[in-house]
Amino acid sequence: MPDLDQEIRRRRTFAIISHPDAGKTTLTEKLLLYGGAIREAGSVKAKKGGQAATSDWMELEKKRGISITSSALQFEYEGHCVNLLDTPGHQDFSEDTYRTLVAADAALMLIDGAKGVEPQTIKLFKVCRDRGIPIVTVVNKMDRPARPPLDLMDEVEKTLGITVVPATWPIGSGDDFKGVYSLRDRRIFLFERTAHNATKAAVQTTGPDDPQLAEAIGARLHGQLLEDLQMVEECVQPFELQAFLDQQISPMFFCSALVNFGVENILQRFLEIAPTPGPLPTIDSEIAPNAPFFSGFVYKVAANMDKMHRDRIAFLRVTSGHFERGMSAKHLRLGREVRLSHPHRFFGQERVSIEDAWPGDVIGLINPGMFRVGDVLSAGPTFEVRNFPRFAPEIFAQVAPREPSMSKGFGKGLAQLGEEGVVQVFWPRVGAREPILGAVGELQLQVFEARLESEYGVDLRLDRKPWTRARWVQNVTPEVLEILPMVVRDESDRYVALFNSEFEIDYAKSRYKGLELYDHPPAEEDLG
Ligand code: G4P
Repeated sequence: MPDLDQEIRRRRTFAIISHPDAGKTTLTEKLLLYGGAIREAGSVKAKKGGQAATSDWMELEKKRGISITSSALQFEYEGHCVNLLDTPGHQDFSEDTYRTLVAADAALMLIDGAKGVEPQTIKLFKVCRDRGIPIVTVVNKMDRPARPPLDLMDEVEKTLGITVVPATWPIGSGDDFKGVYSLRDRRIFLFERTAHNATKAAVQTTGPDDPQLAEAIGARLHGQLLEDLQMVEECVQPFELQAFLDQQISPMFFCSALVNFGVENILQRFLEIAPTPGPLPTIDSEIAPNAPFFSGFVYKVAANMDKMHRDRIAFLRVTSGHFERGMSAKHLRLGREVRLSHPHRFFGQERVSIEDAWPGDVIGLINPGMFRVGDVLSAGPTFEVRNFPRFAPEIFAQVAPREPSMSKGFGKGLAQLGEEGVVQVFWPRVGAREPILGAVGELQLQVFEARLESEYGVDLRLDRKPWTRARWVQNVTPEVLEILPMVVRDESDRYVALFNSEFEIDYAKSRYKGLELYDHPPAEEDLG
């Protein structure tokens, strides 16, 4: 019988955050390869022009309209049980992308070595920061011309406000790329251009001035390496595990995911330093992962748009105890016992029925409308949890049914899909009473429209609006309402101001000194 503490100790649950095209799919594929979850590179992503492989993970789902399966992948690696949570990007980018980070204990931030920190990276980093999860930085595509490593370090520090501590140091880039030097153990990983695995066995050196090194990488690059490392030694603080766990520092690695260079080394080190599954915060305390009862929370509800399989799946992250198939647990919001008889794990298009799960694991529950994002299950005591975080929308549309006869279905659909978290619903304070939908990605509006039509028979009139920022307003006074260009109310009747730009926000603040704006709703218990 597996032991709860042991299962917790060997688990790591994390997500990869990146800007589109930085190489997340490629890196995911290589990680799965090490985990033995797939046998051949190229099976995660559809090969160009070719038939998609059966275990294709993302591309196929895009064709189906919305992903229900790309949610969490589990694999074993050197005694660890790794849960890799998918953070949808590209056209799939939505509030789900942010919500997934609430279920992760750590993040791997992937950066394109030539492009540096990009907009999507900044947004996702900020969510990780707010969640308090430690972040490892990985610079990818070193086989292509990349920016100097000191430049990249500087950019991460300045743009994201976290101290970078290099774990490895690249030797050249592009055609000149010779490998990476591991600062911690003074090993050098030499790069060899081959089709599959470009990593040669690591060579132990006595330090950067080891003559072996000069011989392996040539005098010019060796000179550069010595210069860089001297700079690093002078200005960079040493890696300290606690500082990493406290988000004060981010270790930085360099790799080339495409040619599988440096990836395994990153995985090994990541598993060493990444935290084990964290507790579930409650209003007045927390539930420890090794509490003697099962608990978990729903971080995502996905609906399958395929008419043949129109089911909904609630993705639950286990937060404590041992989950066993068929067990019952209390649904805290509904205040009643529910039987969890059909738990699944997903891989590609396959659904695998699971027998049990442990803290840090993700299980998919077939959801007959019972689960919403933020719902908590407990097979032990009843407790109160904080509201699941909401994220400021950036895309807005005013909506109404095309025909007056559809009003009833429209009202019902709006309420239910809003509760499910498909979109955020706002109500104008004055003027037209037509609701305004807020989303962080286009896909959310498309899903809302499609589901309203297929599930509620409502043909939607959707009028896109130009706002790009939403800010929750604290301490509303008549004067404040006068100053703000557009104020709406959210589902909980809180005031939200909508703006077109950062400039507009600054202008409003300059006109009213006491204006308090937040990019997330203040927690209910903090409202007083
Ligand atoms: P994403 O999921 O973050 O959006 O990125 P993805 O892995 O799809 O990679 C985006 C492009 O960058 C792909 O090229 C991929 O092959 C390439 N790439 C990823 N990692 C590396 C790397 O380490 N080195 C180099 N040189 N390229 C890398 P593509 O041409 O868009 O697609 P494909 O034809 O390769 O599939």
